[in-house]
Amino acid sequence: MANVIKDKSPGLAVSNRSIRIETVMDGVDCSLAEARGIGNDAYTHDSFLTLERDRLMSPTWTCIGVGSDVPEPGDIKPVEFIGFPLLMARAENGEVRVLHNVCSHRGVRLVEQAGHVKRVIVCPYHSWSYNLDGTLFSTPHIGGQGKHGCEGFDKEKHPLRRVRSVIWFDMVFINLSGDAPPFEDHIAPIAERWKHYDTSRFHHGGADSRWALELACNWKLAVENHNDAYHLPWVHPGLNSYSRFEDHYEIIGDDFYAGQGSNAYHPRRPENAPQLPRLPDIPNEWQGRSEYIAIFPNAIVGIHMDHYWSVWLEPVACNRTIERMNLYFVGDQPLAAEFDIVRKVVTAEWLQIWSEDQEIVERMQRGRNSPAFQGGVFSPALDAATHQLHRWYARRM
Ligand code: FES
Ligand SMILES: [Fe+2]
Repeated sequence: MANVIKDKSPGLAVSNRSIRIETVMDGVDCSLAEARGIGNDAYTHDSFLTLERDRLMSPTWTCIGVGSDVPEPGDIKPVEFIGFPLLMARAENGEVRVLHNVCSHRGVRLVEQAGHVKRVIVCPYHSWSYNLDGTLFSTPHIGGQGKHGCEGFDKEKHPLRRVRSVIWFDMVFINLSGDAPPFEDHIAPIAERWKHYDTSRFHHGGADSRWALELACNWKLAVENHNDAYHLPWVHPGLNSYSRFEDHYEIIGDDFYAGQGSNAYHPRRPENAPQLPRLPDIPNEWQGRSEYIAIFPNAIVGIHMDHYWSVWLEPVACNRTIERMNLYFVGDQPLAAEFDIVRKVVTAEWLQIWSEDQEIVERMQRGRNSPAFQGGVFSPALDAATHQLHRWYARRM
């Protein structure tokens, strides 16, 4: 018998059996020692994705790309935000705008491919055009043949609708609901923790510093794994040889973030290759340190004295996530040809680690099909960061 989730979201139909969101969340919002993890259905049913979009992601700040995706004025890029068509555009003044990617006239999805426009974005249906800031520029023949305006029609009332957005560490965060606290207040605990890292000094590493992995897993498993230092000796023996398990510590933030750090960031670079420039003014205790923080729901930043990376997770289906990574270096010197080898080594190191992670997160996803598993248990010593995500999740869902 087909059933319907009995929850405050009427119409969320799931075939074969009844799913109650309360059951999926039972026992999650508890202390670490007593809690279990989020139930399987939140990982294996696509209907959860739209719920997550509406309850978790839209009301807060969620990452949908990086500013370097649209580096020049006139660059545009369509983005799908769990079914919502959006558009990133860099305006003439250099600002990145996030707009709803839908024509105000008859609702055509305006931009289908990333590209560059000279001045305006033109709708393919009736050729209405929009400036890069979203304002409506022209409405050909709207008043009849040869009449490009008409009485009672005010262009100012029909722009592309803007989405509240902000850039931090080059990541483009949006607040779809429009009523989240200001981003500066939201991010303040992390900004304070990392106040020694002057982000204005970092430059994107270019084409070989941008890549994506398609993961056959739910987006939450990717976040959980980024926060997990426990698996280091077994999944990353190479990394563990120079940044050991015992050098790591957990970061448990205020509510919406968690992660891990290492006190042993001693990068190994090819001999005879130039050294990557380091950030000046880093206090001694931070010199050999690296930290990796997940900003819930879907952004992760890894900071080091000579580079940082950002990862943002694009949920595509309950069991499919695109993990998009970008690498940044200090100053523009590392973009020169003589640094090619160093950039390639840094990229290869991270890709090695993330491909080791890929196998394990996909196996966790397959494990979520087992009726014998319902959220699992946590190590009180080493799983606090994962628990933090689950608790944050349960409170909002
Ligand atoms: S739908 Fe875009 S111009 Fe008509
Ligand atoms: Fe890992």
